[in-house]
Amino acid sequence: MADPLLFRPIRIRDVTLKNRVVVAPMHQYSGVKGFATDWHLMNAGRYAAGGAGLVIMESTKVERRGCGTVGDLGLWDDVFVPGLKRCTDFIRARNAVPGIQLGHSGRKARRARPWEGGGPLQPGPDIDDWDAWELVSASGLASPESDPLPRALTTAEIPALVERWGQAARRAHEAGFDVLDIHAAHGYLLHQFLSPYANRRNDEYGGSDLNRMRIVIEVVESVRAYWPASKPLFLRLSVEDDSGWGPAGSVELARLVKPKGVDVIDCSSGGMRGAPVTSTGPVTYGYQVPYAERLRRDADILSMAVGLIVHADQAEAILQEGRADLIALARELLYNPNWPMDAAQKLGVDAQFGSVPSPQAYWLAKRAQSVKSVVPSTYGRSLKASS
Ligand SMILES: Cc1cc2nc3c(=O)[nH]c(=O)nc-3n(C[C@H](O)[C@H](O)[C@H](O)COP(=O)(O)O)c2cc1C
Repeated sequence: MADPLLFRPIRIRDVTLKNRVVVAPMHQYSGVKGFATDWHLMNAGRYAAGGAGLVIMESTKVERRGCGTVGDLGLWDDVFVPGLKRCTDFIRARNAVPGIQLGHSGRKARRARPWEGGGPLQPGPDIDDWDAWELVSASGLASPESDPLPRALTTAEIPALVERWGQAARRAHEAGFDVLDIHAAHGYLLHQFLSPYANRRNDEYGGSDLNRMRIVIEVVESVRAYWPASKPLFLRLSVEDDSGWGPAGSVELARLVKPKGVDVIDCSSGGMRGAPVTSTGPVTYGYQVPYAERLRRDADILSMAVGLIVHADQAEAILQEGRADLIALARELLYNPNWPMDAAQKLGVDAQFGSVPSPQAYWLAKRAQSVKSVVPSTYGRSLKASS
């Protein structure tokens, strides 16, 4: 295919991505008291070396209370900046753009890691700041009902919380990130405010659609006050959940935040009660693409599609059909961190493997030129199938 869109650079504000392949934020549950470790360097590094244009590091918490697990990354203090700077330096040196997601788990905080059951934690010697790790939310409601009850944030507490998002954005800039993604999806704190199911407040942060959106708008304003105008800002939404928040509200919110400096809506879904949802059928290839298409069309804003985008031609078709501007992958990159390099080969670009570092590119280009009968392992199931 001549000049596939997936590998055409895109410029957003002053940042140019060399292609449209984005590493979706993926929690590693591997932080130590909020600090990034060698694991984060290795993990972000391998995606950068695999050819992605933008590597968005995981939901990194704007305050201690917001940590979902003991392994969350933090940016609620300047002490966390050097560990993340190490990661951004590495990503940039591999010719990718470093991005980060900022988040707050709200009532979904203080839980075991998924592979440890994911349930609410109990106080114990492993957690030395149990009281500081408080569950807070829009309202004092748990979901499921068997979960510990969060405390509803008072109206007076909200400005300080909003300011923490701004301060975390400042630190993200100092750590060298060039793209910032605000996490307002998946049933976490900001989504708890957006949702009429989780938000039963009767102050200016609850009730009407606009009131429930207010904290997200204020977070965007706070982040933009500290995040340079030259750098792109993304907003991740559960465009639809199973609890009363949907595409119409998402479009309205996108229209409100675009003039305040949001450049891209990162279109996910679900999470309020657990399962992902889709208005268009079962969870299958590209199940959330309709949301990216809707936001792009109705809110006139760049959109990022995510969710079971697995194949190169699938990703390319989404772009060609004008359904999204960026393609994000998560689990397929766990399977194959070199997916962008592989996709470039399959779409017929980058014969010299220029999208990956020289220690890889040199040998792969040489093999491709000298042994024409060999095709990569990702092209078929066996020697028989791939020949
Ligand atoms: C291990 C793992 C960690 C994740 N962590 C985050 C996260 O920190 N923030 C977020 O918004 N989504 C997170 N997600 C969701 C992904 O970003 C993505 O939206 C979802 O996995 C669907 O894309 P996929 O089908 O390509 O995996 C995570 C997914 C996985 C598999």
